[in-house]
Amino acid sequence: MSKDTNASANPAAKLWGGRFSEATDAFVERFTASVNFDQRMAMEDIQGSLAHAQMLSEVGVLTADEYQQIDGGLRAIAGEIEAGEFPWSVQLEDVHMNIEARLTERIGATGKKLHTGRSRNDQVATDIRLWLRGRIDLIGAELTRLQEGLVELAEREADTIMPGFTHLQSAQPVTFGHHLLAWNEMLSRDYERLMDCRKRVNRSPLGAAALAGTSYPIDRARTAELLGFDAPTENSLDSVSDRDFAIEFCAFSALLLTHLSRASEELVLWTSSQFDFIDLPDRFCTGSSIMPQKKNPDVPELVRGKTGRVNGHLVALLTLMKSQPLAYNKDNQEDKEPLYDAADTALDCLRAFADMVPALKPKKANMLAAAAQGFSTATDLADYLVRKGVAFRDAHEIVGQSVSFAIEQGADLAELSLEQLQQFSDAIGGDVFEVLTLEGSVAARDHIGGTAPSQVRAACARAKRSIAARG
Ligand code: ARG
Repeated sequence: MSKDTNASANPAAKLWGGRFSEATDAFVERFTASVNFDQRMAMEDIQGSLAHAQMLSEVGVLTADEYQQIDGGLRAIAGEIEAGEFPWSVQLEDVHMNIEARLTERIGATGKKLHTGRSRNDQVATDIRLWLRGRIDLIGAELTRLQEGLVELAEREADTIMPGFTHLQSAQPVTFGHHLLAWNEMLSRDYERLMDCRKRVNRSPLGAAALAGTSYPIDRARTAELLGFDAPTENSLDSVSDRDFAIEFCAFSALLLTHLSRASEELVLWTSSQFDFIDLPDRFCTGSSIMPQKKNPDVPELVRGKTGRVNGHLVALLTLMKSQPLAYNKDNQEDKEPLYDAADTALDCLRAFADMVPALKPKKANMLAAAAQGFSTATDLADYLVRKGVAFRDAHEIVGQSVSFAIEQGADLAELSLEQLQQFSDAIGGDVFEVLTLEGSVAARDHIGGTAPSQVRAACARAKRSIAARG
């Protein structure tokens, strides 16, 4: 502690120093301060103060002149912050007290009236909600940009055949467009969750003051309206202690990153020379310092990796709030860094994907060749036999024997002759080869949610309409 013991000499230097007879320990000052990270919400803090001061003047707690001075002072401070000229001080603990102290420095004693009828407890809750609302809107726009690119690519690749997998084993042929639309469904649910979270973020805790409300004749509906919130929150104790909205946002982010990690994993597999389904342009890749031949899919790998930190932030916030008694506790100051990082990571990863998806180049011949391997039309042969009157279980057995025979011959089902196929069932006729082709197999899955190219095109049209309706 040696280098920290040199505490600020004068306790009265603190905005709350009145009842203190000893200065704060310098280490404690640094340990309890949040200004190094919460200055990120400086503009939201000023926005909240502007609305609060306007409301105070409207209800007569501040005179018109006092309000004008405070308003002008806050706007000047916003300019200082934007220009990088604001004198941030750890001694002033957090963004709220830094700005308030600076206001008094600039406009004199009237600055001390700004904090009438509020507390840092409702102030910080207001700031976080305003900040998060802004991030949600940026993230929503980037999510939409990614989905637009995805649906466009899906439409272009509606006829491109690739193997569909279960257990990462070739299962049945699908279209690449259909696969991309599966990603899009995950992201559509993420968008819904984000917008649902936004509703609970967008309520105003301002006026809850420290915990019990205030004895001034404040108008909470007015500050809510000025700040673009849907309504004031209901209960003052809950207002200053609720961080559900931050947890919900982290849950959204964790699920979004989980989805992006799954898509990333597929891109990593598909760009490997073993699969070789996709070309990822060089600008999204890096090389190896030792192996000259390497082109590594760093961007998808990093998105996959970043899922870990976002999952961690969700657990951090859940744990932060667990067992916290009402109302505000200093613990809550720990909400910011995880929340900021979850939002930053979600936004960056979406940007990476939105840039990358339109640039993906499918290697159609390789996809088609891979789909033709692994007896991926075996189910189609079974369905064919069922249409000829064979019970499904018997059909399953017949096809199993045919596959086993084909493996011995080193051939695919479609490469066996009619005579060879007929050894296993006399229900098999010359028309069997139509169902054994990959094109026939995908075209046959012609219903809502199926992989047939016509269904993929219809699904793309529906997806485009629903994305456009977001406004
Ligand atoms: N920096 C604090 C936070 O982030 C602001 C609220 C402080 N309130 C208090 N009563 N100490 O939570």
